[in-house]
Amino acid sequence: MGLVACSDDSIDTSSMANLGPLDELKKGPFPKKVNYKVQVKDAWVEQELEGFVYVNVENRDLLIMSPICTHLGCTASNAEEAKQKDGVAFYCPCHGGEYDQYGVNIGGPPPRPLDLFEPYLIDGNVHISILSPQERKKT
Ligand code: FES
Repeated sequence: MGLVACSDDSIDTSSMANLGPLDELKKGPFPKKVNYKVQVKDAWVEQELEGFVYVNVENRDLLIMSPICTHLGCTASNAEEAKQKDGVAFYCPCHGGEYDQYGVNIGGPPPRPLDLFEPYLIDGNVHISILSPQERKKT
């Protein structure tokens, strides 16, 4: 996914999480976990949400991945060392789902890769719309 540059008023920023400066985000080692905290406004309801994404770089593009397993929605965590040797970067403990460092499902029941967030560049910082993860095709 390419980086979308936009000015502050060109996009609905009500559920945008700031992941920090682009230069920092593009520094390895990869994949890495990036935490966020965001105020989400939905009509008259406003709440603070905390979460995290996994970030990697593929073909010089930022890959911002949701940690939500595409099987039944558990959270995939960093795989333990023994699994990493087999190319598993993220592991879902619920039913043994396995994903590689680009979030591609490589083992267990997940039907498709981890969803991606489109990166928006606002004033040098990368933002994502946390309510709008995008599905990738099955592998
Ligand atoms: S919810 Fe992740 S493997 Fe089932």
